Amino acid sequence: MALTDTAPRVRVENLRIAFPRPDAAPLEVLSGISLDVADGEFVAVVGPSGSGKSTILRAICGLLKPAGGRVSVDGRPVTTPPPEVGFMFQKDALLPWCTVAENIRVGAELGGVARAEHAGRVSALIRLLRLDGFEDAFPKQLSGGMRQRASLGRLLAYNPSLMLMDEPFGALDYQTKIVMGRELLRIWEAERRAIIFVTHDIEEAVALADRVVVFSARPARIVADYAVDLPRPRDLRAMRGEAAFVRLTEAIWSDLALPA
Ligand SMILES: Nc1ncnc2c1ncn2[C@@H]1O[C@H](COP(=O)(O)OP(=O)(O)OP(=O)(O)O)[C@@H](O)[C@H]1O
Ligand SMILES: [Mg+2]
Repeated sequence: MALTDTAPRVRVENLRIAFPRPDAAPLEVLSGISLDVADGEFVAVVGPSGSGKSTILRAICGLLKPAGGRVSVDGRPVTTPPPEVGFMFQKDALLPWCTVAENIRVGAELGGVARAEHAGRVSALIRLLRLDGFEDAFPKQLSGGMRQRASLGRLLAYNPSLMLMDEPFGALDYQTKIVMGRELLRIWEAERRAIIFVTHDIEEAVALADRVVVFSARPARIVADYAVDLPRPRDLRAMRGEAAFVRLTEAIWSDLALPA
């Protein structure tokens, strides 16, 4: 236990990921990224489109084989998806033949929640995610934002101690984004799981996270790593006007404007 007590939840060391191409050299997407995520830490990753943000999440949960370097979770090298890791994909991965309630229930089943608790857990999440009235709807009958909320429900039902979230609120309107961000923080503040949260939205990254890691254009390297020393609990709307918040978002904007 001593090792896992002190090890970071996630350790990425000099990670290289390259995708083979039929008539060209492999496409180098990550070229030597190193990143540690501590227990209970909320890390946001921002970077240009196509820089490798989804790729690093997939590598952390063992869905991609590195061309070099290492990934470990809780001190153990990752080769297949570790059970303590929950992943919310950029494109929702709801089961199309299952209703909203059934999709969320799958999370509870995978997460080993006792069967007697499934129904209560599913209905609490449906209320939390404001999907009431759509329990029996199929994914194709939902809006993009509703599908994202159902996917979040499945992740929360799974109750992982490490959450990898790939633009989870990308399809939501501003108001719903704030509501969902608030809920995510409430859950995280209560249970302090580790979160790696990929987003295009710099303000969202600063508002939610303890740290914001900024990727360059492909092949990605880390151009900046900011500690967000804003007090918690955070008021996601009011804080956007505060000087420290504005300074940080401006700094990240200028990092992203750097040439590749
Ligand atoms: N399975 C794959 N096979 C081949 N190339 C891939 C694969 N997955 C991603 N890529 C390439 O890797 C690069 C990085 O993709 P990735 O999805 O990680 O970007 P991203 O930073 O998440 O972008 P976005 O912000 O648009 O979601 C892109 O050029 C993409 O074409
Ligand atoms: Mg992506």
